[in-house]
Amino acid sequence: MENRQLIKSRIFITCGRGIDVYLAQEVKSLGLPVLAVSAAGIETEGTMRDAMTMNLRLRTGLRVLFLVAEFSARDPDALYQKTTTLPWEEMIPSDGYFSITSTVDTPTIGNRQYANLKCKDAIADRFMRICNKRPDSGPFRDRAVVHLHWQGEDCRVYLDTSGDPLSKRGYRKLPYKAPLQETLAAAIIMATGWNVNGSFINPMCGSGTLAIEAAVLGLNRPAALQRSNFGFMHLKGFDPAVWDELRGRAKAEAKKDLASKIIATDISSEACAAAEKNARTAGVEHLIEFSTCDIADTRVPEGGGVVVMNPEYGERLGRTDDLAKIYGRTGDFLKQKCRGYKGYVFTGNPMLAKKIGLRTSRKMIFFNGPIECRLLEYELYGGSRRTKENADRRDSGR
Ligand SMILES: C[S@@+](CC[C@H](N)C(=O)[O-])C[C@H]1O[C@@H](n2cnc3c(N)ncnc32)[C@H](O)[C@@H]1O
Repeated sequence: MENRQLIKSRIFITCGRGIDVYLAQEVKSLGLPVLAVSAAGIETEGTMRDAMTMNLRLRTGLRVLFLVAEFSARDPDALYQKTTTLPWEEMIPSDGYFSITSTVDTPTIGNRQYANLKCKDAIADRFMRICNKRPDSGPFRDRAVVHLHWQGEDCRVYLDTSGDPLSKRGYRKLPYKAPLQETLAAAIIMATGWNVNGSFINPMCGSGTLAIEAAVLGLNRPAALQRSNFGFMHLKGFDPAVWDELRGRAKAEAKKDLASKIIATDISSEACAAAEKNARTAGVEHLIEFSTCDIADTRVPEGGGVVVMNPEYGERLGRTDDLAKIYGRTGDFLKQKCRGYKGYVFTGNPMLAKKIGLRTSRKMIFFNGPIECRLLEYELYGGSRRTKENADRRDSGR
């Protein structure tokens, strides 16, 4: 029997809408090719070891899907027939457990659950035929996960090597209110271009996701260092020694300390306490200066860097009228206290964004769940704008 861990295959990494460009950067930086980019994710190719590396290191991806087979199926019976020919006994332990997830958009089937059932039956029946026993199956995603992607007549069957999505890093025990998904927070930080070049200031920190992700990124520490469970651990041939080696190497490459300051504040003492506790769980609390204060009283050290804020935007929290004042004060804070920094406001409410009252230098589109959001960038020049423009002209030799 071939060692399936060594087989190269296509790998699809899913991500939130708007994040594909940052995910592609990450995949390339791991030395893997980017074969295709779409709003749903990135396609690359590699071995199961590469999939493990991506699970460990990717900050912006959600699920690492390892392609098992690709075929055409017109209806559920065809799906069953093709799926039952695949060597599942080489992939899932017969005394294990598996679940099926799917994305289905095909005219012959209205119910995704029915496709999942057909897939589950095909796998279970094959086990009974070949091994005379079969793994349990059910809805839990914390063990082996098979993912079916069926569009029109095109079927792709994957092993979901992540299981739980990679946004679940394991550090956010206390979510406070309207927390950002960790993968989105990481993409926002990448979009700001902050890479320990200057301070990272995060007023309105809530549960601390942005500050914690910044600290982990600044240290070059793998995103999933604290996670102890992944889908690939429940597949046949998983070698814990390989996983230990990948983790050990990534840990050795990470920095122990940061020269840059990370400052996180919130007007709510409950939010600050949650953020601090989450940072402690993530092992980065010593790198973040927390304080309970209003936006305007946030300490902004000399030397520049980035200021990132994620005010409430009325979809889930707060009322629009009250929020309009907060957005106005966000703009005042950037103008009055953050000269020499780049300012960023992440919001899903364009009307509120207008209240900031500053001219944006860039607008980047992201989705927070179904809500279209913008990361608004503000250049907060240290000197007068004219001086900055003169300097730019000199630098470019004009
Ligand atoms: C949408 S939440 C931020 C969520 C955060 N990004 C996370 O991932 O958990 C907005 C935060 O702004 C805080 N806030 C509201 N008004 C404030 C003010 N005037 N000064 C400082 N913080 C404020 C709230 O307490 C809340 O925690």
